[in-house]
Amino acid sequence: MPRYARLMCSTALAAARPALLLLVAASLGLAAAHPAQASPVDDPPPLSGQLMQGASLLRQRGCLSCHSVDGSPRAAPSFRGLFGSQRTVITDGRERTVVADEEYIRRSIVRPKADVVVGFLSGQMPTPRLAEGELTAMSAALCALAAPPASGAPPTKSQQRGAELAAIAEKVDGSLTLLLGSLLGFVGLHFALSARRPRALLVGKLGEPVFLALYSLLAFMALGGILLGFRSAPYVVWWTPPIWARHLSLAVMPLALYLMVAGFSTPNPAAAGQASLLAQAEPARGILRISRHPALCGIALWAALHMLANGDRSGLLSFFAAFVLSVGGMLHIDSRRAASGGEAWQRFFDTTSRLPFLAILTGRNTLKLSELGLVRPLIALVLYGALLVSHHVLYGVSPLP
Ligand code: HEC
Repeated sequence: MPRYARLMCSTALAAARPALLLLVAASLGLAAAHPAQASPVDDPPPLSGQLMQGASLLRQRGCLSCHSVDGSPRAAPSFRGLFGSQRTVITDGRERTVVADEEYIRRSIVRPKADVVVGFLSGQMPTPRLAEGELTAMSAALCALAAPPASGAPPTKSQQRGAELAAIAEKVDGSLTLLLGSLLGFVGLHFALSARRPRALLVGKLGEPVFLALYSLLAFMALGGILLGFRSAPYVVWWTPPIWARHLSLAVMPLALYLMVAGFSTPNPAAAGQASLLAQAEPARGILRISRHPALCGIALWAALHMLANGDRSGLLSFFAAFVLSVGGMLHIDSRRAASGGEAWQRFFDTTSRLPFLAILTGRNTLKLSELGLVRPLIALVLYGALLVSHHVLYGVSPLP
């Protein structure tokens, strides 16, 4: 191991660099889009994905054509300050006063005719068709749209949070252009400049150092665009992930993390600059028996699981880009090595697989647990635990169902 330490850091990272950078960027972007705040006095929950989804659903489902979120009068009572207030309603023909708690709000959405606010007509509000998750997200958002501050008083944290949510609910404009352009630029740049011909041509013209500097500059510009794009893109929900998607992610993420940890810390003939390892008697050892591209597989798995468990457009597009980069990276490395690696690469290729465990299942390799050791799985588990605990603070979304 130690004699590979230098190689390992420079080359394994280089191979998976684009996808890894995007992983970090997507994380930072999400963290920037869901800033977590805390206050000892008034400590509302952070602006989670669920709250933001709920707020934007209010607009998408047409609720805002009758209800306002800023207190202004429309055809129906404003949502602002609804939660916790006293409502005078007609229930079964009789007038009564109730406090608008979460249950009242849910009931008002699912059965608008159950409690009709005095001064409004029964039957005016249509009964929306909502999935359970959507209903929960909308009620949570309605509960978080706090009452406006008394005139002159500084707003509390909850009131600020409520105003932010109201802004999200009403945000129809905003633009996806920067995020989409930067994602396309980032992915396109890596595919274009790592393709053999353009690369050789440019390196020949500019020289290796200038080429690499230019490449890095463009890549970092695209990353900056991704981060800024997250902020300017409107929050749009493409789908509401079912609860099993959350469970699946929780169950499979340890494997994704393990593949990354083991991939980045194992010398690999498929990694840039390590082709000389092919000369070893048995180059496909340890994690490489499971996959030829463990780190890229881990990133692809991470991206796929997060696409499944997230419904917002910006997140989905970014995870998809990371998925395309990591899968594309594997295909690209394989084709480059096939052209230059000769027989030794072919032998390595034949005893390994891209898809984890495929070479083992098809009898081309055998699983040797002793080669995997305990340290890497343990590191992956610790990382998993740390991410579980910090996910909510970092990204505003709890990974737990
Ligand atoms: C066509 C107009 C209209 C639309 C669209 C509409 N509502 Fe309403 N809503 C009303 C009216 C009118 C009332 C008051 C009468 C009543 O209680 O039924 C009301 C009452 C409510 C209440 C109770 C409010 C209070 O002040 O006690 C909630 C909560 C509510 N609507 C949620 C929603 C949600 C969520 C949506 C979108 C899925 C929605 N409404 C769409 C007209 C509408």
